[in-house]
Amino acid sequence: MIEFINEYQIFKLDTKNTTYAFKIVHDDFSVHLYYGKRNDDAERLNALYSESPVSFAPYNRQIGVNFSLDTVATELSFFDSGDLKDTAVKIQNENGDCVTLFKYRGYEILDGAVKLGQLPNSFGADKTLCVKYEDIVSGCFLYSYYSIFYESDTIARFNKVVSTGKKAVIKKIASGQLDFGKADFTFLSICGSYYNEGHILEYPVHIGKQGVYSNSGHTSHKFNPFCMLKSPCATETNGDVYGIELVYSGDFEIQAEKTISGFIRLMAGINHETFSWELEDYFYTPEMILTYSDRGVGQVSRNLHNHLRNHLINPEFVVKKRPVVVNTWEASYFDIDEEKLFQFAEIAKKIGIDTLVVDDGWFGKRNDDTSSLGDWRVNKTKFKSGLRAFSRKVHDLGMNLGIWIEPEMISENSELYRLHPEFVLKAKDRECSLGRHQMVLDLCNPKAIEYVVHELTETLADVRLEYIKWDFNRSLSEVGSCVLPDGKQNETKHRFILGVYEMHKKLTEAFRGVLFEGCSGGGGRVDAGILSFCPQIWVSDNTDPVERVRIQNAMSLAYPLSAVSCHVSNTVLNAMEKGTDYGLRFNVAAGGVLGYELNLLQLTGKTKEEIAKQIKKYNAISPLILTGDLYRVDGLDCGQSAFYILSKEKDVACVYYYNVGQSKRNVTLANILPNWKFLDFETGKSVNLDEIDLTAKTNFLHIYQVLSVKNENA
Ligand code: GLA
Repeated sequence: MIEFINEYQIFKLDTKNTTYAFKIVHDDFSVHLYYGKRNDDAERLNALYSESPVSFAPYNRQIGVNFSLDTVATELSFFDSGDLKDTAVKIQNENGDCVTLFKYRGYEILDGAVKLGQLPNSFGADKTLCVKYEDIVSGCFLYSYYSIFYESDTIARFNKVVSTGKKAVIKKIASGQLDFGKADFTFLSICGSYYNEGHILEYPVHIGKQGVYSNSGHTSHKFNPFCMLKSPCATETNGDVYGIELVYSGDFEIQAEKTISGFIRLMAGINHETFSWELEDYFYTPEMILTYSDRGVGQVSRNLHNHLRNHLINPEFVVKKRPVVVNTWEASYFDIDEEKLFQFAEIAKKIGIDTLVVDDGWFGKRNDDTSSLGDWRVNKTKFKSGLRAFSRKVHDLGMNLGIWIEPEMISENSELYRLHPEFVLKAKDRECSLGRHQMVLDLCNPKAIEYVVHELTETLADVRLEYIKWDFNRSLSEVGSCVLPDGKQNETKHRFILGVYEMHKKLTEAFRGVLFEGCSGGGGRVDAGILSFCPQIWVSDNTDPVERVRIQNAMSLAYPLSAVSCHVSNTVLNAMEKGTDYGLRFNVAAGGVLGYELNLLQLTGKTKEEIAKQIKKYNAISPLILTGDLYRVDGLDCGQSAFYILSKEKDVACVYYYNVGQSKRNVTLANILPNWKFLDFETGKSVNLDEIDLTAKTNFLHIYQVLSVKNENA
């Protein structure tokens, strides 16, 4: 699965359906040969490399005019050493120049995965290749890791730089680079803003630089740390597609660069504009996950889904049924108390909801969003008998309990701020801007982490809880840390993220067995780094079903349905939807992890019955959401969309269809799933898909037994 072919000096990394290959040339340089469909012909792979005279590009005087780092595809590129494109690694040397050149010094093939310092990374690799490079001037070694995951057709890459004692500052270090040589691609990713997440971004890679990034200290609503590169004719089911995803929750960049000759380079990693690192001992980059398929966008999504489910998300929650929650936020906002919430729990129990989630407002003096973040002690006016007694009462009903926290924040109006103003993340001599009236804790400071972890564990330790929603409601600004010396202030953002992970580690360990849900004002921190601690994420505060169709579809490009938390609410935003159509709301929310977010006390008996039926139906669908394979249906009219989830055994399918646009095209189920044969799950009778007319429907959701699978991709 990973071999070094001595005859050709080629490293060949194979997964079930893909091959990745690179070659050592002139003893010192690793040139990229191939990433694509499985290819076991080493001679042919070797023949992909050739040299020819270069004009104008700098060349190495010992090797001669036929070799330039500017014209060959490389595994990693180095600043100011002859490669004139944007490069992956830039180190400032002792004398202040930034010339960087790492040369090949050997390799090692290891069993399994390698743990990535304080950063989260994929587990359960089959093999890991570690390639060693040395830069004699900076005195650094660089170890480039490639872990392969055979069954999911994925490769995880990261780099480690090790100092030998000379002064060196890392100015830029990508997690990985993919040089395609001459190529033609479309760049696809996800963009958005608060309450408006999940827009698919797609354009042809043009000459120059382009890509996605964050500079807000978290992954952000603006772009997601994920992209695909599609060959121009690739579709949902066909064609060459590459997928890239970063396991990182801070400032990132994924950049594609194309030259006039058509050469394309893709790089992904920490955003170097807001980063530098004075090397003391070693530095790890975040992990980058790569995949490829010749079977279109859909298969690349499935590869990423399989990777995240099998190698990143806590295995304890991968197949365990997720709770159907009722969340108090949209129902009551800060206006909560134990009597009211107990009434919620009673109704919830009757209609089949299994977990009551107490959202914001249960602690300190938190009656609006201007105070108390950091004061993680229960509000005794709202919970007179305390959280522990409340939890016992809720559990006595047969319900589970969840709670909301926002541990990385501090309100100006809080006991914590009065006690520890130095815990605020803030640049020296600058005034700190507010975001939602709040400031951010300096997680570079271990004392700040300790303090909050201690407060939360003290308050919640004896409270029986099954679920915690972890929020993060503002972006970073005026970034600096009083625990770092002057020369290291530019390390603050990355150190902050290491602190974020440390806090996640500590709290998830303190509350073992509790399901954590990530959130950041909805979708401000949807990424694989957070997923390694929180198996599901609240991807948007926007619960309008019409908007949600778009948001959830975009998220499904990179994240499994089981990672996306979706609630039925009754906020009415979209004129297209007359009133609150619980049918559409449910059929959309049932495309992920279902929950409810509405005032149960105001529901009519009829609506309660309808919700009870929905939950029963969802309980049958839920195993498919957790482990099934997602197939999006291509080629529908604008406003129409459809997908189905097929069980791994290919014996059960759940079909979803929405028409939330203006399309009036006549369409039956047979049109979107030609030649499938289903049995009705309940009656056991065969289903004539021609007779299922979707034309007048805005939505449709049904679960079937599969008689025959007619999808060439399934
Ligand atoms: C954010 C979350 C919401 C809710 C509020 C509470 O906006 O996205 O779901 O938890 O915070 O303040």
